[in-house]
Amino acid sequence: MRFLHEDNCCSYYRLEVASEVDKLDIPEEDGGFDFFHGLGIIGYPKAFKMWLRRFPRPILIIASEKSRILGWVYVEEWGNTSRDGRTIHVLRAIEVLPELRKSGIGFKLVILALKEITGYMITKPLTEDAEVFFKKIGFMESAEFRKPPLDLSKHPKYLILPIYKRDMLVKDFESAQTSGSSRT
Ligand SMILES: CC(C)(COP(=O)(O)OP(=O)(O)OC[C@H]1O[C@@H](n2cnc3c(N)ncnc32)[C@H](O)[C@@H]1OP(=O)(O)O)[C@@H](O)C(=O)NCCC(=O)NCCS
Repeated sequence: MRFLHEDNCCSYYRLEVASEVDKLDIPEEDGGFDFFHGLGIIGYPKAFKMWLRRFPRPILIIASEKSRILGWVYVEEWGNTSRDGRTIHVLRAIEVLPELRKSGIGFKLVILALKEITGYMITKPLTEDAEVFFKKIGFMESAEFRKPPLDLSKHPKYLILPIYKRDMLVKDFESAQTSGSSRT
């Protein structure tokens, strides 16, 4: 488990091996994580372990308070490179505990995932709220690009975060860190 960041709400870590999942408390009942139960995840600990055993090793970042997970994001390599030869990662899933939503944890998880990659990040929002969330961060539809950096014609509804926006988000985050902004 690699420490990434800390703010007044929680600490953020990148999980590195499956065995780390056993040390964590992942609430799944009564206001716990539930969104992905109907979408292929039977139990979150099992899914997290399965993902962490994959190669190339994906990015699984958690927001936690002590050992209790409050939010998480999962990102994988997409495989192909973009038209301009950059790597592509896909944000497959993100979730914050219902009671803590709209307090900036989801945004912070995305920024920390962006810091772990170079190149493009893409994602397919599964709900309208998720689409608003990603678009506010800067993700764009293919049609918004004069020439999309990657061909997603066979992957409808995916959004792309352009490299310059990724770089800006990371730079803003880092300068807020050094200036001690309360938002971070
Ligand atoms: C989608 C989800 C993960 C968002 O997490 P969240 O913690 O509620 O999101 P945040 O509080 O970080 O909201 C994003 C905020 O960051 C803000 N933000 C976006 N870009 C920003 C920037 N550059 N600088 C600062 N803040 C920014 C947004 O304005 C937004 O705040 P607002 O809506 O109050 O304006 C969460 O709603 C969730 O778990 N939903 C259920 C699961 C789900 O739908 N997952 C996605 C499936 S694809």
